[in-house]
Order: sequence, then C-alpha cells, then structure tokens
Amino acid sequence: MLRRSTPEHLSGVLDAIEASLPELGRWLPFALRMPTEAEEMQVLADAQIAFDGDIDWMYTMFDQSAEVVGSAALHCRPESCCAEIGYWVRTDRTGRGYATSATRMLVDAAFGYLLPINWVEIRMDNANLASAAIPRKLGFVLDRHVDRPVQTSGHTGRGMIWKLTRERWDRRRSG
Ligand SMILES: CC(C)(COP(=O)(O)OP(=O)(O)OC[C@H]1O[C@@H](n2cnc3c(N)ncnc32)[C@H](O)[C@@H]1OP(=O)(O)O)[C@@H](O)C(=O)NCCC(=O)NCCS
Repeated sequence: MLRRSTPEHLSGVLDAIEASLPELGRWLPFALRMPTEAEEMQVLADAQIAFDGDIDWMYTMFDQSAEVVGSAALHCRPESCCAEIGYWVRTDRTGRGYATSATRMLVDAAFGYLLPINWVEIRMDNANLASAAIPRKLGFVLDRHVDRPVQTSGHTGRGMIWKLTRERWDRRRSG
C-alpha cells in the first residue's frame, strides 16, 4: 500500500533505512550515512508541503502488517512534459514485487492525473540491475545512456534512462 509521506511515518522510515543502509548507500546519496531523526523529519515535512502544493508526490510503502517497507516518489517536470519515478525498498523485503507494484501505480497516476505529461522516465546507474529490472518489466523502453556524477560506491559514472510514453501506456492498457 502506498500512503502519502508525512512526518507521522518517521519512526517506520528510519527503521527501514537503518535495516537497509549498506544496500541503499550503494546507490542513493541520502543513505551514505544514517540520516538523523531531525534530517528525516525535514524530508517528510518537505514532502508533505510539496504534495499539498501539487509539485511532487512522495509515498511511503507499507506491507500487509502496516510496516514501512520503502518509499516511492513521482516527480513532475512539466517544462519537459515528463514525470520521473524513484524508489527504494527495505532490504529484507526485496524480491517480492513491491517496487514494481508501486511503480505501476505511480505510472497510472502520472498518466491519469498529470495531463501535460507525455512520458514517464526512470533513471539509474548502469550497474544497478535490480532497479533496471523494474521499468523493463513494466514495458518501458531503454531510451539512452548518459554520463552521471559518481556519488556512491556503486556508481559507475554512466546511467540508463528508461522511458514509457503515454501512447505506449495507452496501447498496453487496451490490450
Ligand atoms: C531496486 C529495488 C528498489 C528493487 O525493489 P524490489 O521490491 O526488490 O523490486 P521487485 O521485487 O519489484 O523487482 C525486482 C526485480 O529485480 C530483479 N533483480 C534483482 N537483483 C537483480 C540483479 N542483480 N540483476 C538482475 N535483476 C535483478 C529481480 O529478479 C526482480 O525481477 P523479477 O520479478 O522479474 O524476478 C531495491 O532492490 C532497492 O531498494 N535497492 C536499493 C536502492 C535502489 O537501488 N533504488 C533505486 C535507485 S535508481
């Protein structure tokens, strides 16, 4: 289940980050060290303001037992008619389809509610094969490889940009 992120999720989110720090820190700069309570509280408060302002939509992922198992976000870039999706999943809950389900929901939300959006992108390092498996499964097309800054131990300096157009999404939904 995805719920919009709020400061109420603080302890669950911190637990999930702490339990996953080596894996998250390999790819995500925010997890190079354990964020403090105050830092994470600020992230969640900012996310709530951005959500209310219809600027950016960050969700906390919960499993059936209502435990926090990750996060997924939809970032809108209206100047380029594009939305971007990002995600992470608690290490002991990976491989269960959570990131794929969350991404599918955010793609539907982007095309369903963000009318100027013509395509959705997902970006990751060339070496992040688990992350690349998600857009591939959902019918995204590998659009291009780009140079990227090396910010974590897993980064290679090259990244992939996967793209799903509204037209392709419409075609896949209709059959
Ligand atoms: C990437 C990540 C979000 C995946 O979350 P998840 O809930 O395990 O994802 P799913 O279960 O929906 O799908 C994962 C897919 O990756 C595949 N996969 C996992 N490791 C892989 C690897 N080393 N090589 C190729 N595919 C791999 C799995 O087999 C699965 O595909 P399948 O369902 O066809 O078998 C999670 O591993 C994570 O949080 N990683 C650290 C943070 C991160 O990299 N975030 C993304 C930054 S761009």
